[in-house]
Amino acid sequence: MGLKKQDESKQKAAHRAVEAIESGMIVGLGTGSTTSFAVIRIAERIKSGGLANIVGIPTSIRTEKLARELNIPLATLDEQPEINVTIDGADEVDPELNLIKGGGGALLREKVVAQASRSNIIIVDESKLSDRLGTHWALPVEVIPFAARTESSFLQSLG
Ligand code: A5P
Repeated sequence: MGLKKQDESKQKAAHRAVEAIESGMIVGLGTGSTTSFAVIRIAERIKSGGLANIVGIPTSIRTEKLARELNIPLATLDEQPEINVTIDGADEVDPELNLIKGGGGALLREKVVAQASRSNIIIVDESKLSDRLGTHWALPVEVIPFAARTESSFLQSLG
């Protein structure tokens, strides 16, 4: 069965992004259905011999699982603190290319990996485009267990 039109767009964006990956790179692997197409593509290129010595840094347990299933070599940020390029998705994109991210539940790790990356490629299909952020997606907030009580009060104070 063929892909739905939206999945075709996601896959197209993902494949285009993976063209930026070269052998020997440390690659940040984002989270979400769009990025999954990129992870699959990276694995295909490794398998076909088009890419060698790639090390992935996954931004979520979900992505880590997929990458392991596809035999992409992985490392932690401690082991590889400098990432050449990260490919990730987004929840909403405005005309200035500001983003809402984190809807897939990987906000903290995604931001840490993005910050450690020399370049970040964000891949989206056109359903993510929006004139004003927050129109289609609420702004995700991630609270770590250490801060659960104080952040709960703080967020309530914001209404
Ligand atoms: C993960 O927390 C998000 O930032 C994702 O990049 C986002 O949710 C995109 O997911 P889809 O590609 O499934 O829309």
